[in-house]
Amino acid sequence: MNKEIIKIFDTTLRDGEQSPGASMNTEEKIQIAVQLERLGVDIIESGFAAASPGDFDAISRIAQRVTNSTICSLARAKDSDVKAAGEAIAAAKMRRIHTFIATSSIHMEHKLKMTPDEVIKRAVRAVEYARTFVDDVEFSCEDAGRSDISFMKEIVDAVIEAGASTINLPDTVGYRLPSEIGAMVKEMSEYTHNRAIISVHNHNDLGLAVANSLESVMNGARQVECTINGLGERAGNAALEEIVMAIKTRSDIFGGYTTNINTKEIYPASRLIANITGIEPQPNKAIVGKNAFAHESGIHQDGMLKNKDTYEIISPADIGLDMEDTLVLGKHSGRAAFKDKLGKLGFEVDEEALNTAFERFKEFADKKKEIYDDDIRALMTSQMTRVAKAYELVSLQLMDCSNGVPSSAVTIRHDGIETTDAGIGDGTMDAIFKTIDRITGYQGRLIEYKVTSVSKGKDALANVTTKVTFNDNQPAMIGHGLSPDTMMASARAYIGALNSYLSMEGMLRLRHADSGETI
Ligand code: KIV
Ligand code: ZN
Repeated sequence: MNKEIIKIFDTTLRDGEQSPGASMNTEEKIQIAVQLERLGVDIIESGFAAASPGDFDAISRIAQRVTNSTICSLARAKDSDVKAAGEAIAAAKMRRIHTFIATSSIHMEHKLKMTPDEVIKRAVRAVEYARTFVDDVEFSCEDAGRSDISFMKEIVDAVIEAGASTINLPDTVGYRLPSEIGAMVKEMSEYTHNRAIISVHNHNDLGLAVANSLESVMNGARQVECTINGLGERAGNAALEEIVMAIKTRSDIFGGYTTNINTKEIYPASRLIANITGIEPQPNKAIVGKNAFAHESGIHQDGMLKNKDTYEIISPADIGLDMEDTLVLGKHSGRAAFKDKLGKLGFEVDEEALNTAFERFKEFADKKKEIYDDDIRALMTSQMTRVAKAYELVSLQLMDCSNGVPSSAVTIRHDGIETTDAGIGDGTMDAIFKTIDRITGYQGRLIEYKVTSVSKGKDALANVTTKVTFNDNQPAMIGHGLSPDTMMASARAYIGALNSYLSMEGMLRLRHADSGETI
């Protein structure tokens, strides 16, 4: 039987990035886009081009790099946004502009301060203008969940006429129940019939985003918008892994439908996003949480030993999680074994990258007895997302601060020159960050600090995420540091944020120089 494809539109890089604390640098976004392509995502919403030069740059680099997924940029229904989106995705093999305007009375009256007729005019103009850049235009009725359905029909007729081929109906505030969303999608998909594809985009404020998305599929939606790990604004978006695995696992119900997702890439994608954002899925999160396949009770363990089907509806292998082979390497492991492991984990590296990774692996293995798959994933993520190295931590020494003044000695390499300095602070971390500031000449303000442990053991790798402002007129930058030593990881994370800031600042200068402006 020929199954109908449900298109998976991933918005981790756009709506997901709107999660508090989830902003990413360009290298990180590129690595995520590459993994989404490997996962088989149909459309990658790679950002909001008009939001900042950083977003524009990341989208255009993703457009050059990814060839098997459609690259999409979001644009409000205004010319400058649509133009930025069109230009940012110009290099993509397959490209889409996603434009939107709110259609609920509450948004039109209080936010847009526009009449319904004005909203329709703006929507039509945006779609027509978008069609001058691309053939593939998606239009979203923002807050569709609370919009009047007869008004939506009116605006949808107009934008389809103007050239939109996908109509997205977001439950922007996550208010609707599955039965209500199902009824709305049914009515709208019967109304549009084969004039456009109906898409849904559900937020999770009531914990119903996935249920609403699945109900939408049953009622005619042929595109679902979602994010890895359910990342997203407020309570997040519908989780890609849950939607895809529900469709696959419950083929008795969803038998007529399938997706293009290679489910074995789900776990690697989830780890990549968690390592980059520092936002771990809750342990009991469906599909990708640390406990999703853990059987704690004796009765369950007994059942599992007799027959896995007693308590397991999904095999971990189906999402690319190898439960048996997680203990991997130690300090005596050779280069060949390490290379083999990288291959098994899906990392394609050239000789140079392999050498760097192996050196770092040896450094970690000296301090950490057992290295697990998740450690290797974290190590490779930090290597692949490094921005052009402006500053690099060479060494860190801490003085005993139990009775005296916390102090640190730091050596940093910059442009091939090593500089050492020492400083004191109110606490160890304060001393480290102040010493780094003295060496680099940049004054950072720490806004957020988070430490998580990768894999297990007292000697587990610490993954530190910092959010630091170096210039109050520019967004705070995220930095990551990885080390078996938490203080070392903290110093690396702080320097990582500075490097991201410098690469962003360099790019701003280039773009402003291009346009003849100065900053
Ligand atoms: O939630 C929402 O309405 C959105 C739109 C921009 C699609 O994210
Ligand atoms: Zn959204």
